[in-house]
Amino acid sequence: MPSRSLKISPDQYQQVKQAFERSAFPSQTALATELGLARGTVANFLNGKPVDRLNFQEISEKLRLDWQEIAAQVEPLPPSPSPFLTGSPILEPRFFFGRERELKRIFGLLNRHPLQNAAIVGKRRSGKTSLLRYLQKISMTPTGQLRPGQKSDWLPSPETYRWVFVDLQDPRRQTRERLLGYILECLKLEVPDPCDLEHFMDSVSDNLRYPTVILLDEIGVALERCPELDDEFWESLRSLGSNYARGKLAFVLATKEFPMDLARSTGHSSSFFNIFAYTAHLGSLTSSEARELIASSPLPFAENDIEWILDQSQCWPLLVQMLCRDRLFSLENGETGDDWREEALEQIRHFAI
Ligand SMILES: Nc1ncnc2c1ncn2[C@@H]1O[C@H](COP(=O)(O)OP(=O)(O)O)[C@@H](O)[C@H]1O
Ligand SMILES: [Mg+2]
Repeated sequence: MPSRSLKISPDQYQQVKQAFERSAFPSQTALATELGLARGTVANFLNGKPVDRLNFQEISEKLRLDWQEIAAQVEPLPPSPSPFLTGSPILEPRFFFGRERELKRIFGLLNRHPLQNAAIVGKRRSGKTSLLRYLQKISMTPTGQLRPGQKSDWLPSPETYRWVFVDLQDPRRQTRERLLGYILECLKLEVPDPCDLEHFMDSVSDNLRYPTVILLDEIGVALERCPELDDEFWESLRSLGSNYARGKLAFVLATKEFPMDLARSTGHSSSFFNIFAYTAHLGSLTSSEARELIASSPLPFAENDIEWILDQSQCWPLLVQMLCRDRLFSLENGETGDDWREEALEQIRHFAI
């Protein structure tokens, strides 16, 4: 790994200049010659321009300066130690790959009036939360924070949209009062006291001025474990969305099972689970989507490794991520041969989808 460049901070400029004047070196060239460096390197150092870290250290020491104290790191740390993320949902759009078809369909329901509801169905670790987060963020993410060519113009006026992400696994979202209060807070609407269903409905139907999307993650948890989030509750949300929000409110929910099956299997009958204009079923990525993810490696992979990763992962995003992470690790460590594959397979064995 190349060593990072450093430069003196503006605050340290005088101190460094004085140290040079105090030193026995009559000129920058003399100092450079003594250290066996190019004169330009010494000049850069003294003028606050970036210098390779080792040179920075040597010059500082010659001038009897504490190099760590005067160093100001210029090159920001790499945005992430590895582009391959496993274990938690993808939160930054530039690390999210694929799902083009699902995005097209879902944004197609959200970019017209009235907004319509969608459901995302997929097994554990298929990428549901990552997709909800992506929907929430992609339209307003500055181009500089996206991959080149990554599509973000899904909505006609993205700045008018309000998004609320609700993780129903979070105990703070599992009672009516706290869940409804949270939604109102996110929408910057006044939270009534008491914050019950009636007041919530009044508040939203009177005040909702912008297109608003409520993303409900892990809705199965709510149905299985939250007695307060009962049929009456879901029925009211349905009614709010369909009748009282003037077409400005939509729900996108994520669940492991189809919403109607889920409602039935948990003893619910609410028609809320019947309002989805589109259900995205998250399976594996297409092979070109998986290839794009693989190609995001900072060190390129050989074609036979790429094929192997596609084959072993069956293009499931989590498995692609894990295999890429292991391949990158082995390349960074200068390993030769295919031993990494055995270990990588062992890693994904427990995650087979
Ligand atoms: N679209 C995607 N692009 C890149 N990686 C993804 C994507 N979707 C899922 N992943 C990978 O899968 C893992 C699980 O995703 P997550 O959204 O937490 O799944 P779920 O919510 O369905 O359990 C993430 O940590 C990430 O490694
Ligand atoms: Mg999830």
